[in-house]
Amino acid sequence: ARATGSARCPGVTAVPGQVHTEDPDSQRSECKLSVWDSDEPVPRAELLKQVEGAHGLLCLLSDRIDAEVLDAAGPNLKVISTMSVGFDHLAIDEIKKRGIRVGYTPDVLTDATAELTVALLLATARRLPEGIQEVKSGGWSSWKPLWLCGYGLSGSTVGVIGLGRIGLAIARRLKPFGVKRLLYSGRQPKPQAGEVEGEHVPLDALLCESDFVVVSCSLTPDTQGLCNKDFFSKMKNTAVFINTSRGAVVNQEDLLEALASGQIAAAGLDVTTPEPLPTDHPLLRLSNCVVLPHIGSATISTRGVMAELTAQNLLCGLTGDAMPSELQL
Ligand code: NDP
Ligand code: DGY
Repeated sequence: ARATGSARCPGVTAVPGQVHTEDPDSQRSECKLSVWDSDEPVPRAELLKQVEGAHGLLCLLSDRIDAEVLDAAGPNLKVISTMSVGFDHLAIDEIKKRGIRVGYTPDVLTDATAELTVALLLATARRLPEGIQEVKSGGWSSWKPLWLCGYGLSGSTVGVIGLGRIGLAIARRLKPFGVKRLLYSGRQPKPQAGEVEGEHVPLDALLCESDFVVVSCSLTPDTQGLCNKDFFSKMKNTAVFINTSRGAVVNQEDLLEALASGQIAAAGLDVTTPEPLPTDHPLLRLSNCVVLPHIGSATISTRGVMAELTAQNLLCGLTGDAMPSELQL
């Protein structure tokens, strides 16, 4: 679909899907848009075709923007705006080398993602999907002292891996549940951790001592596969593992083994590898694993604000203005 819009209009809202702008001129107020007008990801071949000659590209986390796409776009491309805070789908080194600016959506999705993480943690620890299934299937025969017992937050130790914007927002929300100790790991202590009485500890200590391990770091070469056999072997048998960062931070084979063998008690995942997780994946057969379809930021208002910020970043990148949220490369 093609449409024209004002490049300087602050109210422009980008629809989910790919938009590339052609022939913008900072002296003019209009640009041409080529829109992938669907909620489904743009097919790779279509992206490679449509991006040719574009000055700007609006993308989603499901689009891999690598050297092939950048080559297909050619030298006109000066801005990439992703509707996400995570940018592991962007080949940052290549992008930087070509002098292309990047816009992203930090902060505006922090609350929604932290809220979802707490919901997933409680659903996993208190076995909500199992309970709901028992009600529907007639497995609920009567109140029984030990039936569907799980783990509570009160008096617990919570470990957060990656106390960034979202990690801190998760910690803030968990503390009022009566969490006794809040541990976190990461490359350096965070001054803002004082607010949640967070203790910066080595990863091994966090794993040994935590009743809940929450992963909220970004996906980087350092964190890829971080949660592996060795990692799970250090966790308590009664501990609950939660991941709302990226699927590739976890070695899923090792997680499967840890869950099936009772090495850890349960896992809640909002992100997996691949996405979607095939419906016959063994993780989905485990009663102690709760899998959500990457809905951390999925509130109606958050997605609206993300879309608008993504469009604003794109337009500012085209006109050479300061972006509301530019990734410092
Ligand atoms: P931030 O950049 O604020 O936080 C990322 C944190 O990761 C930093 O605090 C950093 O801490 C930490 N980190 C980096 N490397 C390591 C490491 N080796 N070990 C431990 N921690 C590490 O980003 P946000 O909080 O805004 O977002 C975090 C991630 O959450 C995104 O990158 C995205 O992947 C994911 N996300 C998922 C959503 C969902 O729908 N499930 C929604 C939104 C985001 P330090 O510098 O101290 O190492
Ligand atoms: C992100 O923004 O990185 C999330 O994964 C989706 O909102």
